[in-house]
Amino acid sequence: MKLSAFVVTAVLAVSSVNAALDAKIKAKGRAYYGNIIDQNTINIGQVTNILNTEFGAITAENSWKWDAIEPSRNNFNWGNADAIANWATSRGKLIRGHTLVWHSQLPGWVQNIGDRNTLTQVIQNHINQVAGRYRGRVYAWDVVNEVFEENGSFRNSVFYRVLGEEFIDLAFRTARAADANAKLYINDYNLDGPGPKIDALLALVGRLRGRGTPIDGIGSQGHLIVGQVGNVEAQLKRMGDTGLDVAITELDIRIQRPVDSTKLAQQQRDYETVTKACLNVPQCVGITIWGVSDRHTWVDSTFPSFDSPLLWDDNYSRKSAYTGADTALN
Ligand SMILES: *[C@@H]1O[C@H](CO)[C@@H](O)[C@H](O)[C@H]1NC(C)=O
Ligand SMILES: *[C@@H]1O[C@H](CO)[C@@H](O)[C@H](O)[C@H]1NC(C)=O
Repeated sequence: MKLSAFVVTAVLAVSSVNAALDAKIKAKGRAYYGNIIDQNTINIGQVTNILNTEFGAITAENSWKWDAIEPSRNNFNWGNADAIANWATSRGKLIRGHTLVWHSQLPGWVQNIGDRNTLTQVIQNHINQVAGRYRGRVYAWDVVNEVFEENGSFRNSVFYRVLGEEFIDLAFRTARAADANAKLYINDYNLDGPGPKIDALLALVGRLRGRGTPIDGIGSQGHLIVGQVGNVEAQLKRMGDTGLDVAITELDIRIQRPVDSTKLAQQQRDYETVTKACLNVPQCVGITIWGVSDRHTWVDSTFPSFDSPLLWDDNYSRKSAYTGADTALN
């Protein structure tokens, strides 16, 4: 009796490892269920154990952004970025490269450029250096990030001010030349509901393709609020109907304080709904969650009246939200 109980336990333990979110979404023909890592979590065993067992793709939360990699012109800091690349590739994880051209976390020396030639060369050099360094190791690049305002106008970034819409073509063409095999994405937030922003993004994608600019995917960040996820699938479907790949790239579902059991139960249903939304759209290749434990989340500083957006709690225990994502995959 004791021995067979042990065998049953051992078999269950093994199958629960195989039953990780990433393995389950791969069994459904998708590419990955992913998460983020960075210097603040890479040495925390509870986090890396969860990443190892549950997730198949890695995004650097901050260390691959422009200000971290090229703080002054043509002066590249690879230490933190390489640490993440090496962590991921040595464990067989895909890498989502985030991000090449973004108005935020952009050093002042770039923001102050006022002429077309200089900015063109600076964009080309940054992309060549970064995408070139990790050529062959990156599954997908977020080539441009957050180029639209909520009303569908182009964001008034240095890139748009100086170069107009063609900065986007420049970025994609340069990225393709630097790494021919990485999937090239446009990425943005608030694509979770209908409105002028997603309309503008889809129209831009049509223009890019009409000009022969290489683009492979649309990333919907998915920074969501509990109880407000009902439009996600319909919008993912619109993105998928372009024929490009689609991914949810930065999923978290935050809860207005105070957190209580009713809101946590709604969060469980919301993670199930969003995971199912990806599964219901054939072009959706995967989901990246923007953090492991509620202990380490950008939500705490960015949205102080919200909390607890992730699948593991402050003490690295699975929440009901995990069950929600898992249920969708079963
Ligand atoms: C769109 O929104 C931006 C940012 O709020 C604003 O600067 C711009 O004037 C708006 N454009 C239109 C056409 O309303
Ligand atoms: C985490 O553990 C501490 C100490 O045991 C406890 O006070 C706290 O409530 C726990 N947090 C959660 C979210 O369970």
